[in-house]
Amino acid sequence: MGTPLHFIGISGSLRKDSWNTALLRATEALLPEGVTMDIVSIRDLPLYDEDLDMPAASERPGAVRRFRDAVAAADALVIVSPEYNYSIPGGLKNALDWASRGDDAPLRKKPVALMGATPGLWGTVRMQTAFLPVFLTLGMKVAEKPEVLVARADKKLDVQGKITDDTTREMVRKKMQALKDLVTSLPK
Ligand code: FNR
Repeated sequence: MGTPLHFIGISGSLRKDSWNTALLRATEALLPEGVTMDIVSIRDLPLYDEDLDMPAASERPGAVRRFRDAVAAADALVIVSPEYNYSIPGGLKNALDWASRGDDAPLRKKPVALMGATPGLWGTVRMQTAFLPVFLTLGMKVAEKPEVLVARADKKLDVQGKITDDTTREMVRKKMQALKDLVTSLPK
């Protein structure tokens, strides 16, 4: 079966009834064998302030240290996010900025899978495109295919966070398998 892998899941939406958080929760049941995932909240992170992002880890705010430690300990990230104004939600970008600096920047070269859901028709495609330069500058390893763009999420997920659409469920399952395959293909 190989070494167990651990992913962390991050939702770009803080909303209680978020479609994206629902999709992230549903993803937990679709992980490949040998993979576990914890969902990590970005709610308590302060606004990014370089004065607080000191090289000595103990000087960073507690919520930032916990977030950076969780990212560092993970074999890969699963980011599930809405599109805000054709781009990455500010709160999510803020979280990633906190984990992007210093010699020990936890996001550097980190494997990642990105997915998005919206009740709208465009499936978060512009948010996902806006991520490309972020992934590039941090040297992140991206599980690109299949693209998971859940348009009309209100017809494919239910309020309990279950995926009710077979195609969406299979795409998410394949995406998680692609992320596992990517992680296991990288040199240790
Ligand atoms: C949106 N929404 C949105 N939708 C979209 O397809 N393209 C966009 O650019 C935007 N912009 C946008 C900005 C802001 C500030 C909000 C709050 C919303 C609508 C968005 O897709 C919808 O509200 C989703 O339901 C948000 O995701 P969660 O919270 O359900 O996960």
